[in-house]
Amino acid sequence: MSINIPRGTQDILPGQVETWQLIEETAKRLCRLYQYEEIRTPIFEHTELFSRGVGDSTDIVQKEMYTFEDRGGRSITLRPEGTAAVVRAFVEKKMFGNPDQPVKLYYMGPMFRYERPQAGRFRQFVQFGVEALGSNDPAIDAEVISLAMNLYWELGLKKLKLVLNSLGDAESRKAHRDALVSHFKPRIGEFCGDCQTRLEKNPLRILDCKKDRDHELMKTAPSIIEYLNEGSRDYFEKVREYLSELGIPFEIDPNLVRGLDYYNHTAFEIMSEAEGFGSITTLCGGGRYNGLAEEIGGPETPGIGFAFSIERFIAALEAEKVALPVEKKIDCYLVSLGDRAKDYTVGLLQQLRNQGISAERDYLGRKLKAQFKAADRLNASFVAVLGEDELDKGVINLKNMGTGEQQEVELASFVEKFREQQG
Ligand code: HAM
Repeated sequence: MSINIPRGTQDILPGQVETWQLIEETAKRLCRLYQYEEIRTPIFEHTELFSRGVGDSTDIVQKEMYTFEDRGGRSITLRPEGTAAVVRAFVEKKMFGNPDQPVKLYYMGPMFRYERPQAGRFRQFVQFGVEALGSNDPAIDAEVISLAMNLYWELGLKKLKLVLNSLGDAESRKAHRDALVSHFKPRIGEFCGDCQTRLEKNPLRILDCKKDRDHELMKTAPSIIEYLNEGSRDYFEKVREYLSELGIPFEIDPNLVRGLDYYNHTAFEIMSEAEGFGSITTLCGGGRYNGLAEEIGGPETPGIGFAFSIERFIAALEAEKVALPVEKKIDCYLVSLGDRAKDYTVGLLQQLRNQGISAERDYLGRKLKAQFKAADRLNASFVAVLGEDELDKGVINLKNMGTGEQQEVELASFVEKFREQQG
């Protein structure tokens, strides 16, 4: 009996992986421009990090974590997201003491959520994310958002919508929370069991409920925007001003609450508006999380970041039919005829590669025509043909596959000539 891949996971095969690599490389290049440095944290953490960090009342913690007891009896969780772990490392490694502040980090790697798999939703997915810790300047909110937008634009996505909201500071959130409780409490019996618990624990989560989203009270629920105090309003205004300054269009959605508990002030999502993208349109989510470092046992530290999955990035590229420059190509294919010539190409291939020339040869004992076909499939710029006659004469026949031009090159200086030819 054959064994299949687990539900909600994927194999990324050659032919697909080049798109992944291009996104990863572009993201890293942009991070260098914006001065974000890479951080790598473990794929599993103590469960408590996420229950405290992401929040006990969130769907992620309640329903979606891959949690297990290790052999030492500790509760371990495969990370469902990156922010809590990055903040844990920031606190544990005392990065708040670094001379360069804010600390600007990026990460990339697999995350795990036990969700119902569907288009754009996996159980293992790769997130790319950034976190800027230590600054309360609304300009860094705008920087973080512009990094995400520019990355999407750079790779050719156009049909994007940036949605923005402010969740305010602790005081504003408390006022909004009270208003939500008064709004929902009289009719909470009409809501699902989860929402009934949420009313006590975290009424904001009710607004994020997938089951009750069409209930009439959802549409009339008090919006956080009305409860922002002056400081929070000013902060939000500054973020909007900076985004306009950067030429980044956005829409305000007072109902955007995000699915994780650590957010305050700026919250945002980037959606795909491409036709046929499917029902899950969020490409990227992020926001400010000023209390998170303290929650994890560190000093008070402001922070903001975002994350997106490469899976959804690729889905958006496909929906917009963006063709990326990920063509297969090699510099030189060595065609050989006869045993002596074949033997000779073993060393010659290595010489080419040693000079940084991408090269390949036949390993299946194929005939001349089939070797040329293989060279074509690899999109070789040049094919070098070596037969017994050439070997005796000390030459090799070099064909430029673009122009069809052929020339005989001395075998002894072939690699050198090849490099010259390439320019
Ligand atoms: P999140 O909204 O839970 O936020 O996830 C961010 C992004 O991860 C989503 O917009 C989506 O692109 C991707 N994603 C989430 N779940 C899945 C899934 N099951 N399959 C495929 N892609 C998925 C966070 O994770 C926060 N840590 C973001 C953040 C960073 N906030 C501040 N800093």
